[in-house]
Amino acid sequence: MLLICAPLLAGANTYDIEEIALPKGMSPEISGVTFTPGGSFVAVNRHGEIWITPDPVRGPWRRFAFGLHEPLGVFAVSESDILVTQRPELTRVRDSDGDGLADHYETINDDWCATDNWHEFTYGLPRDAQGDFYLSTSLPDVAGSINTLYPREPLNMVKVHGERKPSPGRYQGWVLRVSPDGLMTPIASGFRAPAGIGISPGGDVFVTDQQGDYIATSSLIHVQPGRFYGHAASFKWRKDYKGPVDLKTLTKLRTPEAVALPHGSLGGSPGEPVWDTTGGKFGPFAGQVFIGDFTKLISRVFLEKVAGEYQGAAFPFIRDAVGLKAIQANRGRDNLTIPAGKQGLKYFRDIPPRKGTPLRFGNMRMSFAPDGSLYVGQTTRGWGKGDGLQRIVWSGKQPVEMKKIQLTGDGFRIMFTTAMGGRQLANPKTWRINRFRYLYLSNGSPRVDESKCEIRSIRPSADGRSVELKLAQLEPGYVYEIEPLELTSAIGKKLENPLAFYTLTRMLSGRTFTGPRSEPLLSGKQIDTGPNPEAGRLVYGAFCVICHQADGSGGGPPGAAQPAANFRQRGPEAPLAKTDKQLLHIITNGAEAKPMPAFGGALKPTQIRDVLAYIRAAFDEPKSK
Ligand code: HEC
Repeated sequence: MLLICAPLLAGANTYDIEEIALPKGMSPEISGVTFTPGGSFVAVNRHGEIWITPDPVRGPWRRFAFGLHEPLGVFAVSESDILVTQRPELTRVRDSDGDGLADHYETINDDWCATDNWHEFTYGLPRDAQGDFYLSTSLPDVAGSINTLYPREPLNMVKVHGERKPSPGRYQGWVLRVSPDGLMTPIASGFRAPAGIGISPGGDVFVTDQQGDYIATSSLIHVQPGRFYGHAASFKWRKDYKGPVDLKTLTKLRTPEAVALPHGSLGGSPGEPVWDTTGGKFGPFAGQVFIGDFTKLISRVFLEKVAGEYQGAAFPFIRDAVGLKAIQANRGRDNLTIPAGKQGLKYFRDIPPRKGTPLRFGNMRMSFAPDGSLYVGQTTRGWGKGDGLQRIVWSGKQPVEMKKIQLTGDGFRIMFTTAMGGRQLANPKTWRINRFRYLYLSNGSPRVDESKCEIRSIRPSADGRSVELKLAQLEPGYVYEIEPLELTSAIGKKLENPLAFYTLTRMLSGRTFTGPRSEPLLSGKQIDTGPNPEAGRLVYGAFCVICHQADGSGGGPPGAAQPAANFRQRGPEAPLAKTDKQLLHIITNGAEAKPMPAFGGALKPTQIRDVLAYIRAAFDEPKSK
């Protein structure tokens, strides 16, 4: 009996997760993984080490190098010649005397520059066919206030050791190319936290970026030279920079993402994109992109070129239960797992825990092994528990999945990995399709203009492996959310991940969205995206600057009997040490017996809230994370 049951039990998953034991003494915060051309596995960790093993499952491991500065990317020419991105430089680390240990560290390029701001990460490290390396850089965590002050004089002020100083930083929020002889060329700007960078088999460079200021949702972006992708703070390093640029101008300049990874539904902080080049060893998704996420998720992306540009569909690939309760108990960190705020809860759907080994948090680095398994390096930087190394192995069984979604002239063609139940495919009740837009705003965006899509016709193929859906409204500028309900394969197996998002930027004709990018179209719906420091900046300029000064130092107006509060003061007595509630009260009602006017009559409550957000963003100490 047992013998008969065993294969069934073992077959719980089409993809299994295996734990890779790390050697004693190795920091588990794996921040870069790759294989040498000879098949050895190379891992770097956030604590600055490079480890090598001929076989990550059996070992032995060898610590090749140490003392590096937070390496977040690695490329192995061979076991004795390895390149890493340290925060401030691209470094070649070599073993020149053949003892298996690094003895030669060479700076290839350091023409960008990171400050001591913890968030100025440097990511890497793919190499193209010409031998050029590509890196991406993250903005400092005060980029929010850089952009609300943006652009300000002198440019590029950041807080260094608690003081506001001109930053020596250069090219944060960029993708940079470094040639084999060490010349750096800035390629494209507008990134916020492009924590993953990769090159497709066809030689196209892609990054992932993470939801936040100016970045409405996490996404996969096709990086093209000279283009700008959204975040204003990086703009000042462009050669054509001449001064102030407002959201309207930025809107015209911005190139949208290739594929949105809707915040909350498909994670919160994506990492490295990797292409399935295993030729079928990893299952039926050869050529597609896999993207790990900080949450317990790995997504899969199908790209197609429509009217000359990439767009396509994103699917969950492996998800593990997170638990709404756990998220709510951990409110400060919930934006890592669901869209921040109550709005986002609407999109949160927990799923049952995986059978077998669960997927951990922090899936920021991935690499396909020569045997076709997918190695996942996990680092959480203290935000969650679960640093380490896992690998994902295809069991050989056919997963039941939506394999591809292609745009047609009037809807979508969905292709499956296997034949599906024909009656279900043709049943209108199977298909739930919604669409929504994201706005281009300085402080992120909720989903807007959300509506249910009416399906005009359903045409399954004779073999049950695909279906064409014709929609009543097919418009560019929307993300289409496709959720087949109760759909099973022809032999009754459930669709494993009944969720997909197609980012429809271009119609087949090349037509794109021409409406407003920063406002919803559906009238009667006031959207409130929360305190808006950008709007607050205008209020401050009109009502407060005369006494509190542009730099917040207070003192005026000229000849004032009593100096206005200095927002740059620090310490427990400082104005900004008060709570938001207290400050909102003072701004609304004025300060008793002091020449601080009451603004409750002149300004709306939302404007008062915005101006406080601006003051905090511009003059307050950044909140420690
Ligand atoms: C006519 C000059 C004047 C203008 C205009 C003015 N303030 Fe003030 N403000 C003051 C003075 C004077 C104080 C100091 C009160 C004190 O010493 O507690 C003050 C105090 C404050 C404080 C509280 C500091 C604390 O420690 O309690 C806040 C917050 C503040 N102002 C915000 C604003 C904002 C926001 C605006 C514009 C919407 C504004 N002020 C416009 C003169 C001004």
